Amino acid sequence: MNLTVFGVGYVGLVQAAVLAEVGHNVMCVDIDADKIDRLSNDIIQIYEPGLQNLVADNRSAGRITFTTDTEKAVAHGQVQIIAVGTPSDEDGSADIRYVLAAAESIALEMDQPKIIVSKSTVPVGTCDKLRSQITDVLNARGRGDLAFEVVSNPEFLKEGSAVADCMKPDRIILGTNSAHAEELMRELYAPFNRNHEKIIVMDVRSAEFTKYAANCMLATKISFMNEMAGLAEKLEANIEEVRKGIGSDPRIGYDFIYPGLGYGGSCFPKDVRALIKAAGNIDFHAPVLNAVEERNNHQKMVLFEKVSQHFNGDLRGRKFALWGLAFKPNTDDMREAPSRTIMESLWRAGASVSAFDPEAMPECQRIYGQRPDLLLCGTKEAALQGAEALLIATEWKSFRAPSFAMIRDILTTPVIFDGRNLYDPAVVARHGIQYYSIGRKI
Ligand code: UGA
Repeated sequence: MNLTVFGVGYVGLVQAAVLAEVGHNVMCVDIDADKIDRLSNDIIQIYEPGLQNLVADNRSAGRITFTTDTEKAVAHGQVQIIAVGTPSDEDGSADIRYVLAAAESIALEMDQPKIIVSKSTVPVGTCDKLRSQITDVLNARGRGDLAFEVVSNPEFLKEGSAVADCMKPDRIILGTNSAHAEELMRELYAPFNRNHEKIIVMDVRSAEFTKYAANCMLATKISFMNEMAGLAEKLEANIEEVRKGIGSDPRIGYDFIYPGLGYGGSCFPKDVRALIKAAGNIDFHAPVLNAVEERNNHQKMVLFEKVSQHFNGDLRGRKFALWGLAFKPNTDDMREAPSRTIMESLWRAGASVSAFDPEAMPECQRIYGQRPDLLLCGTKEAALQGAEALLIATEWKSFRAPSFAMIRDILTTPVIFDGRNLYDPAVVARHGIQYYSIGRKI
């Protein structure tokens, strides 16, 4: 099948590459000429396991191409997939201007019937807006005769395992009431729907809402656990034992109940805020969503507060080692990462940071540039040099089994503030290191 994908960001590029891998002919279009140029030379700006080879292999096989030419791109695909960004507006609502712009390009250029698929995370009602916008443009062109359908098809991939998630989706949500559109979409996804039925067809608005409800449910689990962790500390219980104790109930499950430093990334914070805003717009009281957001904002400060308390509020002139900058492992993404709140709080308090992350250092450099209170180090060991304490913000595998003897010998005051509960407190204590973690008594 010939497909066009608008937007070569995370979702668009991964989805395009995976669709090409199963044999579709995919043309990707983006307004960012530099990005398109780089992708046409197999240069991928984001770190995502497996993506580089997938794009390069499919490009050399001729199944995926990149262009900035919307006319050519619209002519290519029977199905036009919109996967452009929906950043947060200043007031927290989702900004859908890029989605509308992509739909307008399609309406301006199409001269054959098209199925238009909305894959970006968009507020409920956006597909209706796209439908009326496209109708208006077609009518203005005198091409009201051209048939089209708008399908909502939200994406559920996770950064760090995006390629695998896309190859083996848990479910494929299709929001449409058109039998023809459903048939084409089933054909498109047939290679991913082999072992058991994964396609769930529903009305457009429910499909749009499913995406928000899923992300907000997961964010709620995390905020709830973070609140329990805070309580566990005060009640002298161990949240890691409690986690196993409650996770064993299949109604709760073991997934997404890891306490930590709060959720970050490009999705949960933005989507929770957007749903709060959407609820506000229709005067719907949503205390749960607001509490999820409030807890998360607080959680990002928890590690800094522990550090500040340990040093009696006197952080000026001190240097801290920080392991982990990315918002989670296996990505170089630092959007809304807890590490940023931690670093910025330390800087405000007059301290400096020497940091290491296996992938996110170029991104950190891009965000903060050169500054005297930030040293980016080539190894996790180098980050410890001259530091008083070690802070851990991301649970990279390579941080899980360090030499505690080395940490103790290098740090000027041997203390670890672990935001991801990577270590057994008894083991750390045996090495003569003071240890703070999340939801476990000191
Ligand atoms: C999330 C969802 O998991 C995807 O299903 C969804 O498609 C995606 O958003 C999106 O809307 O595009 P992602 O943001 O890549 O994916 O990352 P997650 O693995 O979900 O982690 C989000 C945050 O929650 C991270 O900061 C992570 O550290 C935190 N988290 C996760 C916890 O603090 N505890 C947990 O138990 C799990």
